[in-house]
Amino acid sequence: MRQKIVAGNWKMNGSKALVQQLTSRIGSEMASLENGVGLVIIPPALYVPGVVESSSAGFGVGVQNIACWESGAYTGEISAAMAIDIGCAYTLVGHSERRQLFAETDEQIAAKVEQAVNAGLTVILCVGETLEQRDAGTAERVVSAQVRAGLANVSDDQWPNVVVAYEPVWAIGTGKTATAEDAQAMHVAIRRELKSIGAPADNVSILYGGSVKADNAPALFAQPDIDGGLIGGASLKADEFMSICRAVPGGY
Ligand code: PGA
Repeated sequence: MRQKIVAGNWKMNGSKALVQQLTSRIGSEMASLENGVGLVIIPPALYVPGVVESSSAGFGVGVQNIACWESGAYTGEISAAMAIDIGCAYTLVGHSERRQLFAETDEQIAAKVEQAVNAGLTVILCVGETLEQRDAGTAERVVSAQVRAGLANVSDDQWPNVVVAYEPVWAIGTGKTATAEDAQAMHVAIRRELKSIGAPADNVSILYGGSVKADNAPALFAQPDIDGGLIGGASLKADEFMSICRAVPGGY
């Protein structure tokens, strides 16, 4: 059985006041969720301690990025061990904004994944094609290659700490989403790739991300290979985020 997960990636948004407001709402409404979905909050690193303080409510906390080194003279970086030390259980790696704006390569991403799982974090590896790649018919090839390269350093016993998030770049923050059928088809392709690299693919959660909102979440989450969502903009609004969490089908 795969864990269903809804993760909120706040990106570079938020404040002490917003941490207080969102975590108290989410914390108090979580108890009424009956679908067994796991919630993860991924605020900017500086706000992690404030979110961790509220995490007794039952949600996990993550960072948006970690260093590809263990420790040392890397000014401005945060290590996987530090994320664990401060109370995180998760990290995003390879978000498309990091790939595009910070020129992260597949090799760096693989090193970050390795640091994360070695430290005991669960890594959410983000993959996704650009619009040009989709139009050129290479989306599946690009995404499969990102999965293979990003997870190259994961050893057999570390697969329980791996989650994949499929986020078509053209759907992030644009209001455009993949159709539920297109997203499902890519999730099947990702699962096939996971199998081919030796992962227990049927046990790896694959999340969909890119303009997920309360109104499109039910159709996406009804797909058999979509195990939840990675939510950007809508995770900053408590009502919208909780509606998305409620859209995960229960009874599994
Ligand atoms: P969005 O972002 O929901 O605002 O499109 C998703 C993401 O980048 O993780």
